[in-house]
Amino acid sequence: MAAEMALVKPISKFSKTTPKFSNPRAKPCSSYIRMSSSTTTPEKTATNSKKGNKAVIKETLLAPRFYTTDFDEMERLFNAEINKNLNESEFEALLQEFKTDYNQTHFVRNKEFKEAADKIQGPLRQIFVEFLERSCTAEFSGFLLYKELGRRLKKTNPVVAEIFSLMSRDEARHAGFLNKGLSDFNLALDLGFLTKARKYTFFKPKFIFYATYLSEKIGYWRYITIYRHLKENPEFQVYPIFKYFENWCQDENRHGDFFSALMKAQPQFLNDWKAKLWARFFCLSVYVTMYLNDCQRTAFYEGIGLNTKEFDMHVIIETNRTTARIFPAVLDVENPEFKRKLDRMVEINQKILAVGESEDIPFVKNLKRIPLVAALASELLAAYLMPPIESGSVDFAEFEPRLVY
Ligand SMILES: [Fe+2]
Ligand SMILES: [Fe+2]
Repeated sequence: MAAEMALVKPISKFSKTTPKFSNPRAKPCSSYIRMSSSTTTPEKTATNSKKGNKAVIKETLLAPRFYTTDFDEMERLFNAEINKNLNESEFEALLQEFKTDYNQTHFVRNKEFKEAADKIQGPLRQIFVEFLERSCTAEFSGFLLYKELGRRLKKTNPVVAEIFSLMSRDEARHAGFLNKGLSDFNLALDLGFLTKARKYTFFKPKFIFYATYLSEKIGYWRYITIYRHLKENPEFQVYPIFKYFENWCQDENRHGDFFSALMKAQPQFLNDWKAKLWARFFCLSVYVTMYLNDCQRTAFYEGIGLNTKEFDMHVIIETNRTTARIFPAVLDVENPEFKRKLDRMVEINQKILAVGESEDIPFVKNLKRIPLVAALASELLAAYLMPPIESGSVDFAEFEPRLVY
């Protein structure tokens, strides 16, 4: 998993079966992110000590989330005796692809990392750290979910289970690489603590499929777009992690393709009016979350020479085109009205953030927020209700002749 998906209201639920991250150094501590003492510079110690060496990631609607699901239902869905739509040969082929492990030797660091990190100073430094933290959390979230699915589906469907385990291998690798990047900035995310302390958002399996598919595909488009941009504009290549994005994004693409195959094996999640409504809802949640998040962090995108809104719209349009191959309906994101609505949401969100940062007492802040939240909700609803694009996969002809999209 690579992207963040958060706007959906969570039902907080702690998974009893949360797997342990195998990093033996990841011990529980009092904060998610800690300074690495051996490399802490006096300057950084001074600024950090004010906060008591603690910097906790805020749990907000837009923060990357951890997911849990109904694993019993997952087992039923992937039981080949119950579900005759499971295309074993397709999953076997995907498994071989994952076993090939194209990126086994890809994530190798060199001394350029630390040197580049030391050169990033001023406001960009903080925003870079935040980028690494959020990306690491999102990747790690994928690791936890896939690892658990791999464990739980082992008996019911060993092939699907093994693919999940191999995807968790990829995500652990991605999260680990980003965490090593944080060490260049004298920081480290405490993934062991994160596993235990973060709230888990519960999604039914069907929603896990929509959300993770979109998350993987939007992650692919984000990584490849940044990679291509920096290849053409090497003067903005301020930190070597971006050079790894070309192969890295292929992992995310494969993960997305696997979810596409999973959804095809569950046509009931794709072929009725409810599926169309949910598909649009998840597209909107994912696109809006990314747009609002990124517009709060324009310094990062400008720091690597991108125009934040142009970058985001490119990623949204490409993700939407890819998603239209499998989802039964998608949003008409290429209609200029969609972007106008996103921009209005950004303006409202900025006002909401300004209220939060004001000196007002909490009661007054809440009062001021009411009309803004209502305005944001009405923009969201209007975007959701824009005429959608009917889409979907022709593969359904095999299963349900009346439902060819
Ligand atoms: Fe990933
Ligand atoms: Fe992924």
